[in-house]
Amino acid sequence: MTERKFNIGVFDSGFGGLSILKEIRRILPEYSYIYLGDNGRAPYGTRSFETVYRYTLEAVTKLFEMNCNLVIIACNTASAKALRNIQQKDLSHFGKDKRVLGIIRPCTEIANTFTQNNNIGIVATKGTVTSKSYEIEIKKFFPNINLTAHACPMWVPLVENGEYNSEGADFFVKKEIQALLSENPNIDALLLGCTHYPLLLNKIRKYLPEHISIIQQGEIVAKSLEKYLQRHSDLESTLKKNSQIKFFTTDSCESFNAIGSHFLNEEIDSAQISL
Ligand code: DGL
Repeated sequence: MTERKFNIGVFDSGFGGLSILKEIRRILPEYSYIYLGDNGRAPYGTRSFETVYRYTLEAVTKLFEMNCNLVIIACNTASAKALRNIQQKDLSHFGKDKRVLGIIRPCTEIANTFTQNNNIGIVATKGTVTSKSYEIEIKKFFPNINLTAHACPMWVPLVENGEYNSEGADFFVKKEIQALLSENPNIDALLLGCTHYPLLLNKIRKYLPEHISIIQQGEIVAKSLEKYLQRHSDLESTLKKNSQIKFFTTDSCESFNAIGSHFLNEEIDSAQISL
């Protein structure tokens, strides 16, 4: 009898997780991936803890039903508000071979490598900022690091609506960068703490002083996953290795294919799904 093999699920509220998936596939091309974007209910960043938890659990459940045994929550808001509950309360109901990982820990555990002067800025959704997840995690590893977190409520809608190259985007990027710098002019690194923000990278770079480096999560998360799979060879050996990828969205496939292809720099052919 042939042994059953599994996909890796990657989930985000919308398009943002594609920026993580892109790097995961670059570093780990051999596996089989299923991407699920809950575009129909995005953004998550302004929603309550309970709602983000419920939506995320529904998405993770769906990915397990779609033959995934490892799910990456490629969304900071969902990692901040739902990951712990899912890991502690829900995971055991799915069977002991199921795993869920978030994207905050891989970035916080190497935060000391981002900065020379221990002042890091982070831009993220309101949900991630108010959860204080980054502050709490970074303090565990590096008590001397001073993190200045700033919420950018308009940035996700700009990306979800395909407006990230517009003049409107310039206005909102400049406004939030200036606000962050007035809170802490000493930062020497800026962490993009929302997976949608890499699409605004050019504009962020334009308004951020040159000496401040920009930290993106994709490669960090991908390398951390690579090490995780090396440490968990029992799980790794159950994964399909056929380099396939399938995309699912809870909203229109047409707009997912159009905007999603900008994240991945390749054509996307998605299917619609309901949660
Ligand atoms: N991309 C998600 C994140 O990393 C948030 C987007 C949203 O607000 O839905 O936080």
